[in-house]
Amino acid sequence: MSMPSYPDISRVLYTAQEIEDRVKELAHAISQDFSGQDVVLIGVLRGSFVFLADLCRQISIPVAIDFVACSSYGASSVSGGNLSITKDVSGVVQGRSLILVEDIVDTGLTLRELKLFMESKQPHSVHIISLLDKPSRRKMEVTVDYIGFTIPDEFVVGYGLDYDERFRHLPYIGVLKPEVYNK
Ligand code: IMP
Repeated sequence: MSMPSYPDISRVLYTAQEIEDRVKELAHAISQDFSGQDVVLIGVLRGSFVFLADLCRQISIPVAIDFVACSSYGASSVSGGNLSITKDVSGVVQGRSLILVEDIVDTGLTLRELKLFMESKQPHSVHIISLLDKPSRRKMEVTVDYIGFTIPDEFVVGYGLDYDERFRHLPYIGVLKPEVYNK
């Protein structure tokens, strides 16, 4: 399949096919590890929507789907606790096995706070799956149970990830040219 070229992308990190193969592996691992459990996949809006849509369709055990949205205020702050939940889950999570589905873990602030927030709802367990991990940027210790790809410290877009709400629709993950966000 030919790859649509995009002038703002300097290079493709992972093709649609590579992502598909990895998502299948992750879905297989989750299907095995959570067999027999009452699972809720919780997508962190908005970046995870493509990943979640593909992941859930490859999972072979029953799962429920829910979403949360949050915004970090004081983004430059290094202290934790600066997350506001702008959309909570809609369904019951108490006593259930929750899997937070994220697009990318960067500083770790978002997931650390979200995990604490979910744990306060007395679920059976809270696990985390992220398509991408940028460990070099971590400020907060957070255990990511399933990782699709570990990437270098570059700004990536596509497959749900955006820059200024653009590029989410790209079927691949690409590195954004620095001149786009340095403008
Ligand atoms: P964290 O709290 O720093 O771990 O932030 C994670 C969030 O930052 C992700 O859910 C993304 O929305 C955003 N983010 C971090 N790095 C990138 C990137 O390279 N491309 C697009 N979004 C990113």
